[in-house]
Amino acid sequence: MEMNQFIEKYCINRFGTNSLKWDALQQRFGDPELISMWVADMEFRTPECVVEALKNRVEHGIYGYSYIPDSYYEAVQDWEYKHHGYKVEKEWMRVTPGIVSAIYWSVNMYTERDDAIVIATPVYYPFHNAVKDSGRKLITVDMDYDKGVFTLDFDKFEKAIVDNNVKMYIMCSPHNPAGRVWKKEELETMLEICHRHNVIVFSDEIHQDLVFGETKHTPSATVAGGKYAKKMITAFASSKTFNLATCLTSTIVIEDEEMRKTWDTFTNIYHNVEVNIFGITAVEAALRGGEEWYNDVKKVMYHNYQMVVEEMKEFPGINIAPMEGTYLVLMDLRNYIKPEDAKEFIQGKCRLAVDYGEWFGENWAGFIRLNMATDPAIVKQAMVNIKENLKALSK
Ligand SMILES: Cc1ncc(COP(=O)(O)O)c(C=O)c1O
Repeated sequence: MEMNQFIEKYCINRFGTNSLKWDALQQRFGDPELISMWVADMEFRTPECVVEALKNRVEHGIYGYSYIPDSYYEAVQDWEYKHHGYKVEKEWMRVTPGIVSAIYWSVNMYTERDDAIVIATPVYYPFHNAVKDSGRKLITVDMDYDKGVFTLDFDKFEKAIVDNNVKMYIMCSPHNPAGRVWKKEELETMLEICHRHNVIVFSDEIHQDLVFGETKHTPSATVAGGKYAKKMITAFASSKTFNLATCLTSTIVIEDEEMRKTWDTFTNIYHNVEVNIFGITAVEAALRGGEEWYNDVKKVMYHNYQMVVEEMKEFPGINIAPMEGTYLVLMDLRNYIKPEDAKEFIQGKCRLAVDYGEWFGENWAGFIRLNMATDPAIVKQAMVNIKENLKALSK
């Protein structure tokens, strides 16, 4: 579908729908009238096949106890193999009400109190919270950063692991908010270091389907012929890909039998529930019928990203992280704005609600993260507001 047609058909106003992004602006930012570009979901209505499948399920009118049908697992397996070359066995899969839950559970079931857990910052803030809230020791390794480009210093990473006797690495692949899609060699080095020091890897691959240009996502479990998959929990979902976050249905893959036993024992105690059939219905429908929509929505995201890059060319001191993956763009304002003034500038002057760099790690104030899964008109307005206010600075 032509991009404009797609936008016309699928982009909808979300006010008045209990949307965290739009209806909770007062609660989250103290101002209900901001242009909302924070939290990672979309202004795009999910594919028609999902709406239809949900309607059919609703129409049945009986919402009694259900189980996960084989067809659901097959849809996940087919998608994962087709798009990422990862052959997942059914018995390796578990379904969770989101990936953040799976991170919290994994931290609690695979590590002990006071154990050290490492993350590569800046990174998605629930990674920090899962470690701290669970009484574990948070070890952060700031990534190297050069004019928008993030890389991990592997020596620094290994040293942090050794010095702190780290037990788990929570990895973000593709990386939110750095926009990196890790190269195979980078993954291999990270995973080899973890392997050498007996570190369990939680590989959060929720953004796996959202990669752009020439980049290709490599599932951690497939690196080096699967050599590192034994001490690994992989997490992916359709929540970002098809805008289904509130359907609370994610897939966890655990190849190792002992690790699966630990998972099952833990979840039997702490999450002993049947399935939410609406989530299962929505995800299966999306994976089976949503491919065209998915290709179309990616075009809009990338168009928006390119618009940001283009618009900001006027301000070469604004560094923008290349959006290899995710639909989130990290912008470095520090050549123009003092980190402590970023909120006043972005919210007070530019009237935007964004995620701030310091949410992702204490040394990253002065960065903002902007969501590209939206109407290009919103992105355009945001750019106009930022540019006008940057210009006003020099007057
Ligand atoms: C890296 C990452 N993990 C997990 C999540 C959220 O996962 P869920 O909604 O399934 O808990 C997000 C949402 O933005 C994310 O960026």
